[in-house]
Amino acid sequence: TWTTGNVIEEQVAAIREQVGTKRAICGLSGGVDSAVAAALVQKAIGSQLTCVYVDHGLMRKGETEQVEKDFVAATGVQLKVVDAQERFLTALAGVSDPEEKRKIIGREFIRVFEQAQAEIVAEGAADGEPVEFLVQGTLYPDIVESGGGTGTANIKSHHNVGGLPEDLEFKLVEPLRQLFKDEVRMVGQELGLPAEIVQRQPFPGPGLGIRIVGEVTRERLDLLREADAIAREELTAAGLDAEIWQCPVVLLADVRSVGVQGDGRTYGHPIVLRPVSSEDAMTADWTRMPYDVLARISTRITNEVRDVNRVVLDVTSKPPGTIEWE
Ligand code: XMP
Repeated sequence: TWTTGNVIEEQVAAIREQVGTKRAICGLSGGVDSAVAAALVQKAIGSQLTCVYVDHGLMRKGETEQVEKDFVAATGVQLKVVDAQERFLTALAGVSDPEEKRKIIGREFIRVFEQAQAEIVAEGAADGEPVEFLVQGTLYPDIVESGGGTGTANIKSHHNVGGLPEDLEFKLVEPLRQLFKDEVRMVGQELGLPAEIVQRQPFPGPGLGIRIVGEVTRERLDLLREADAIAREELTAAGLDAEIWQCPVVLLADVRSVGVQGDGRTYGHPIVLRPVSSEDAMTADWTRMPYDVLARISTRITNEVRDVNRVVLDVTSKPPGTIEWE
């Protein structure tokens, strides 16, 4: 019979068998899949595993801390955090084109990850056991899709942060390859991972970098992070997390409109709310969510986020719109 307990037991045994006394590394993205894969491998081989988290500065409020503190506390995993915020900001300076941004973020991610990986491999050699394995959170649908082709891959260059170049000489450990997403969440919960990680809605690898329409700057990221945190807080408080597949919050950094606040005229940026309902992200509809929740989010964002004087709702389905704006 299928129980999370059985899945964990079987996978732990299989991982021990596969890895033996060698070492493994795993990239953490902040998402569910890599977190659960890492937790399973940690359970199986403990300190033979080292995780790497690249902090590219494009995460939402609190997410890096969730990985650095809560995930580590829950699993006891050995974690190497690379602070690459400056590097990503420098690489993205002056770039507004969405595809260009995606390429830069993907490229920089791989470079930073490879460097961290090389350092861990070198340390491994010193203690005698080589790093031979790379852990990946590949799910059953990922395998089916990459065989069948989804037809959407060309619309945007979907770079999965956490995904890796193909010329690596590691052997793969993929403990989730028989599981669907909801099963992965159950396994994660059974392993004691924080609910914020296990229940996290989809979030794109390039992060907030593709939710700023216009150039990505530190100031704009900070502003969007605040607006996004408010929206997430209110959606959760209203009990809408299950109904809404995800709700991108987008900053139209190149647009300004006139507003009035207090005694003065403002000339600020709009924030777009994009709540969608979906089964698999291939198609989606905009979520008919309660007006009072929209009103609360709008009031709070315009009151609390500097330079934002307007909140607008995206009422486009997919197709023709994609879920993300870039
Ligand atoms: P679109 O915008 O194409 O998004 O309708 C479909 C789903 O994919 C997510 N998304 C990404 N996920 N790396 C990811 O891991 C990416 O580059 C990426 N781009 C979009 C998006 O959030 C939605 O769930």
